[in-house]
Amino acid sequence: MTGSAVKFEVCWRRTILVGLCLLLGCAAWAGEDSCFDCHRVMEGMSLRFTNDIHFANAISCAGCHGGDPRESDQNVAMSASRGFKLRVQRRDIPVFCGRCHSNTNFMGKYQPQIRVDQLAQYTNSVHGQRLAAGRKRAAECVDCHGVHNTRAISDPLSTASPQRVSQTCAKCHAATAEAFADSRHGKLFNTPRRPGCTVCHSSHAMKSATTAMLTGSTSVCAPCHRPDSKSARLAEEIAQFLTGLEAAGSGSKEALARARVAVHSMNLEALKLVAKPVSTPPDPDEK
Ligand code: HEC
Ligand code: HEC
Ligand code: HEC
Ligand code: HEC
Ligand code: HEC
Ligand code: HEC
Ligand code: HEC
Repeated sequence: MTGSAVKFEVCWRRTILVGLCLLLGCAAWAGEDSCFDCHRVMEGMSLRFTNDIHFANAISCAGCHGGDPRESDQNVAMSASRGFKLRVQRRDIPVFCGRCHSNTNFMGKYQPQIRVDQLAQYTNSVHGQRLAAGRKRAAECVDCHGVHNTRAISDPLSTASPQRVSQTCAKCHAATAEAFADSRHGKLFNTPRRPGCTVCHSSHAMKSATTAMLTGSTSVCAPCHRPDSKSARLAEEIAQFLTGLEAAGSGSKEALARARVAVHSMNLEALKLVAKPVSTPPDPDEK
């Protein structure tokens, strides 16, 4: 069986599992879960949660948030003495998810081959380091996977699926995603065989982007374009152009930033165009 066939099979089995779960088992389970019941009435959160991969694996609200799902009094159910954790802060989310996802024994019970290195990779990534340094907008787990409607990667509706991941990155890297979407790559990628942005940047081990990505043994193009190909030569030229702007110093800082975005068009002329200094017309209101 091919990789995608296996994935499809797993996905299909899950659909049946969730279906059965909703009809029989989990309905009973949810019925005894005060968290689920009260929050269903309150803001419909529980309904969204029935699409969540955690729900499908019988991980309840309290499984993540703590507290006592047998208590109907909210003050007791959500009390610290019953293990309820206060609102999880953005900065703390990676460790919050990693509690389970880094635990080989725990995760192995659900899926023997599932990777448990996401938190370790993420902590060393550009997103993880910036978040830890206080940059609030840097992506954390929930930005890419959603919350209360987290889905398996093999589910095309997952915000981290190969089909949708570029859109997810676009929430924060809009101009870059636009340049990518307009390129030949943008038209051909976003499939299970060639996911979006993560083909070149990886997903959890995201590194700072540099011209090293374009050349030599660190080239991210090499898996698909032979070293002597037209595309590989173009990559060298792009790297040279960017290095030139870097060498020009602070005067070309803005031009460099625009050019690094335009890299995603994979078109040297487009890079040159955006790197031209923008002439600002004089402000008529200026005194
Ligand atoms: C009887 C209703 C009720 C029950 C039972 C209940 N909750 Fe809540 N929950 C609420 C209300 C109301 C709020 C909003 C409180 C506020 O904004 O101060 C809330 C808030 C929360 C929050 C957000 C906390 C925050 O700091 O903003 C979480 C997480 C939560 N509940 C999870 C749970 C879990 C887990 C359980 C079961 C162990 C549970 N709830 C049981 C009514 C309930
Ligand atoms: C897989 C772990 C996980 C499960 C399971 C889970 N939550 Fe949450 N929940 C989170 C995280 C993480 C946040 C913080 C999200 C953020 O700040 O972006 C959160 C935030 C919340 C909040 C406050 C923020 C908001 O969105 O209003 C409430 C209330 C809440 N959860 C209730 C619930 C209820 C009720 C359930 C079950 C129906 C549940 N959660 C199941 C991880 C989980
Ligand atoms: C910048 C976006 C992004 C962030 C941040 C992110 N992920 Fe992911 N995650 C992805 C993508 C894309 C995939 C699918 C490709 C892959 O497996 O590498 C994925 C896959 C996964 C999987 C499935 C792995 C498997 O082998 O099937 C898990 C579990 C996961 N992530 C958990 C996490 C946790 C926990 C965090 C936070 C510590 C996190 N992710 C942060 C994008 C992200
Ligand atoms: C209480 C333990 C627990 C916590 C906490 C938890 N997870 Fe999970 N997660 C699981 C289990 C169990 C599965 C099901 C494994 C499977 O079969 O895919 C799962 C599955 C997933 C998947 C689907 C992986 C796949 O198969 O493609 C993603 C993505 C994911 N979790 C992300 C998160 C994120 C993001 C957080 C934090 C907001 C989080 N999880 C918190 C236990 C947990
Ligand atoms: C919630 C917002 C958010 C999401 C979603 C997001 N990022 Fe980021 N990303 C950031 C922030 C903030 C930085 C740090 C930028 C800075 O400090 O200059 C960053 C940095 C980066 C960098 C390093 C840039 C550099 O100048 O070296 C890369 C590469 C990157 N992200 C790729 C991605 C990819 C690919 C995705 C999707 C899988 C993604 N990001 C999703 C917010 C996000
Ligand atoms: C074909 C490979 C490839 C793909 C696909 C790709 N990138 Fe890049 N990306 C690069 C290279 C190469 C650079 C480094 C340019 C430099 O700084 O020298 C880069 C730089 C970046 C940067 C830093 C400059 C900037 O644009 O702010 C970010 C952020 C980024 N990429 C995000 C993304 C996102 C988001 C996507 C998907 C929409 C994506 N990339 C898709 C190769 C790729
Ligand atoms: C996952 C595979 C993959 C990766 C990685 C990849 N490419 Fe491509 N690239 C393709 C495919 C497929 C095409 C389309 C070939 C065709 O049109 O026949 C393409 C086309 C191109 C084209 C032609 C664009 C056009 O408008 O016709 C250029 C230039 C290019 N790639 C440069 C790069 C560079 C530079 C990198 C590294 C930063 C890179 N590619 C990384 C698969 C890839």
